[in-house]
Amino acid sequence: MVDEQRTSIHGQWSGRMAFILAATGSAVGLGNIWKFPYIAGENGGGAFVLIYLLCIAVIGIPIMMAEVMLGRRGRQSPINTMATLAAENGRPAIWAGLGWMGVIAGFLILSYYSVIAGWALSYVFRAASGMFEGVTSDGVSSIFGQLVSDPEKLLAWHTIFMVATMVVVARGVQHGLEKTVRFLMPLLFLLLLILVFYAATTGAFLEGLSFLFSPDFSKITRGSILTAMGHAFFTLSLGMGAIMVYGSYLPKDTSIAKTSIIIAAADTVVALLAGMVIFPIVFANGLEPGSGPGLIFKTLPIAFGQMEAGILIGTMFFALLVFAAWSSAISLIEPAVAWLVENRGMNRIYASVWVGIVTWLMGIVTALSFNVWAFEFEFAGEKKTAGMFDVLDIATANIMLPLGGLMIAIFAGWLMYQQSSKDELNMTESGYNLWLFLVRFITPFAVMIVFLNVIGVLKFE
Ligand code: TRP
Repeated sequence: MVDEQRTSIHGQWSGRMAFILAATGSAVGLGNIWKFPYIAGENGGGAFVLIYLLCIAVIGIPIMMAEVMLGRRGRQSPINTMATLAAENGRPAIWAGLGWMGVIAGFLILSYYSVIAGWALSYVFRAASGMFEGVTSDGVSSIFGQLVSDPEKLLAWHTIFMVATMVVVARGVQHGLEKTVRFLMPLLFLLLLILVFYAATTGAFLEGLSFLFSPDFSKITRGSILTAMGHAFFTLSLGMGAIMVYGSYLPKDTSIAKTSIIIAAADTVVALLAGMVIFPIVFANGLEPGSGPGLIFKTLPIAFGQMEAGILIGTMFFALLVFAAWSSAISLIEPAVAWLVENRGMNRIYASVWVGIVTWLMGIVTALSFNVWAFEFEFAGEKKTAGMFDVLDIATANIMLPLGGLMIAIFAGWLMYQQSSKDELNMTESGYNLWLFLVRFITPFAVMIVFLNVIGVLKFE
């Protein structure tokens, strides 16, 4: 029935720790530090955060386990993994389409992800130059405004980030992907802790915490529920095959359940710490929590400008943010690169460059959407202005990823031989039954309810 001995032609992680680091590197990124605070701010805080946490637990963790499980079973790029597993389980070949949708989602996400990572990169130099010393909230807004209104600058930083991403992906699984995360993630965590201590001295710490943690459900709209669910997928890198392809490099004997829980927990802690840093600064300086994608770039510099050793800490912080983005970015194109190597006989270097160029071109759309191409549209009754950037973000994070996750849950829960998923997950009877229950009933219905609820919410002007 099943081929137990499949191995990946791309290599394997050196062990369980390497997988945890790489998957955590993929999960922890701009999503945690840049996106989470600004969408939590836009959606009114506490209640949104609670829904997001719920989505991580009942949707995110079971789907992460399913993705890793499918990847390790198939041992190939998501497209070929799904084709192989569909055949092995007597299901139609169209399931490979799940892999294709993931490849497209990965392209689209990286195209704007790279532009935002470019912002972080440019802030490394701004922090190092001492530009934030004693800066006011108006000062930081104008520094940020100057950056995003200048398409040349955005394109230059986007280009640098994409080149860096291609270099790591080209070097391949063990050399490229593994080494970037080993030291940098713990360091980022440490800096966040330092910043939480700073935030505690701003005088608005409790106000910030209460914004983040005390739920006010009157602030929740249908759109914010969708955004919370979409973000659970985005922040855990789920729904497009990134975790599946990382799972395909996972050694046979590693526990999928334990590693998934560790990864999800680490990711969540980083996001919550980022929120605990940002919102006290927001309130202490009379800023607007719902001010959108620029939020961390308009708040953190104030903190760095006031604190002891702010130049050093600020420079390190933005540098680590860039590394976190980098270790996420590589996972967004790994599925496409693995497929080109498998099916087009390309070598990794050539495949990475090819994928990188297409993504870079697509990124121009986002770089221009903050300035020359900015337009307004309405999502869930809220006006958005950045145009194509928001459209791409909503189309991928809020629609394609949950849709991918839904199909993963259906395939893993309903269409695969239970013996296969049981073997691969290798858990206790009750653990397996809980997973199966979640993936069969809870996850698909939760995703569908949120989708149905939201139909009619998107309106273009
Ligand atoms: N999870 C990353 C972050 O939070 C982004 C990311 C990397 C991603 N790979 C992904 C998002 C795959 C969705 C799918 O920054």
